[in-house]
Amino acid sequence: MATSAAAAASSRLLPSAARATATTLSLSSRSSSSSRSFSLKGLGSSPLVSGLFLNQKRSLAYVSSRGFSAASAPKCAASDTEQLKSAREDIKQLLKNTFCHPILVRLGWHDAGTYNKNIEEWPQRGGANGSLRFEIELKHGANAGLVNALKLLQPIKDKYSGVTYADLFQLASATAIEEAGGPKLPMKYGRVDVSGPEQCPEEGRLPSAGPPSPADHLREVFYRMGLNDEEIVALSGAHTLGRSRPDRSGWGKPETKYTKDGPGAPGGESWTVQWLKFDNSYFKDIKERKDEDLLVLPTDAVLFDDPSFRVYAEKYAEDQEAFFKDYAEAHAKLSNLGAKFDPPEGIVIDDGAAKPAPEKFVAAKYSSGKRELSDGMKQKIRAEYEAIGGSPDKPLQSNYFLNIMIVIAVLAFLTWLFGN
Ligand code: HEM
Repeated sequence: MATSAAAAASSRLLPSAARATATTLSLSSRSSSSSRSFSLKGLGSSPLVSGLFLNQKRSLAYVSSRGFSAASAPKCAASDTEQLKSAREDIKQLLKNTFCHPILVRLGWHDAGTYNKNIEEWPQRGGANGSLRFEIELKHGANAGLVNALKLLQPIKDKYSGVTYADLFQLASATAIEEAGGPKLPMKYGRVDVSGPEQCPEEGRLPSAGPPSPADHLREVFYRMGLNDEEIVALSGAHTLGRSRPDRSGWGKPETKYTKDGPGAPGGESWTVQWLKFDNSYFKDIKERKDEDLLVLPTDAVLFDDPSFRVYAEKYAEDQEAFFKDYAEAHAKLSNLGAKFDPPEGIVIDDGAAKPAPEKFVAAKYSSGKRELSDGMKQKIRAEYEAIGGSPDKPLQSNYFLNIMIVIAVLAFLTWLFGN
């Protein structure tokens, strides 16, 4: 009974092609002890899927009748800098070949989003610790379909033993955002992996899309992670990428005019027209709610219905730079939730990402005719003042241009005076 329920649950996770071939899979390793024999019911005989779990078995764990457990000494220590950089190049190539940006972002978020700030101990507190690689967590209802993301990343994991799953998930997500045209994210790495499925969080820590009171629900879930209203709205903007599929989450249309031809596996309903481009169109589209072929979940709609959320949603619909800035900070914060870093300060693999070089200040850029500048624009102007050692609140310590102008004016005045 329990086994058939598990089989049914796992077959719900699989795309229909894999589901069609789903059956009881028995695997045994002849070369080692009998304790390495196991049975994987319902995860499918799809060579890709079984290959994924075979690889996991080789590198990390074996599956007993109760699920995954740590076998040989797993690689749980933190990652290696050079391997992280190379893995990032491989992820870029994977993105070019398969257009899997959205599902990689969702994978990173679902690993991190189980964090509970009220629990101090690692890994009980959940968060970005690689626990989502285990079958037991992949089978949580909210994670439907994410086995496909793991399947895409497994070859990269196998190639770089010096990169933990926890880092790989966050690296893949951040690279996907940046490659889709999003902001540079101030990421750090060095996350330690949990070692076994018994360390996975219980089901139910991630948000639902259609709760009775969406605003209360979002606050309950995200406040538990230590995130605030601004961060809830900014992070929801990640839905500018990707689609929802009725056969996974139960939400969205089977296909729309924007998704019927892919790229990637066709189908599903997207939040935006260009669902592989990271920009602020999510906020514009869910505000207008005009296009029948674009998705608005109850938890999306509430961003314009709730007065506190609306302040940020309006700002992001208006000002993409403000959205990018807040998104970059919120995403990096999310990616660190619950993580244990080794070294404790983490590893930065992209110096430029932590502090993007400010553009040259061109005052004319800001003369938009608006009476009041947006907060994002004000912050940008402030950053540019600060980059040249000044501040919009006080004059520059030494303004050579002004000094020269004063000297010229004084000389001109004296010439005129003595000339008369
Ligand atoms: C605010 C609460 C959230 C809810 C209720 C929610 C719900 C959902 C649902 C129902 C789907 C469709 C899954 C499917 O059918 O395949 C989805 C997809 C997605 N979510 Fe969220 N989500 C939330 C927040 C977030 C956050 C914070 C991020 C990232 C920072 C995110 C990133 C994504 C992405 C990129 C997809 C598209 C995946 C794909 O195309 O395969 N979501 N989300």
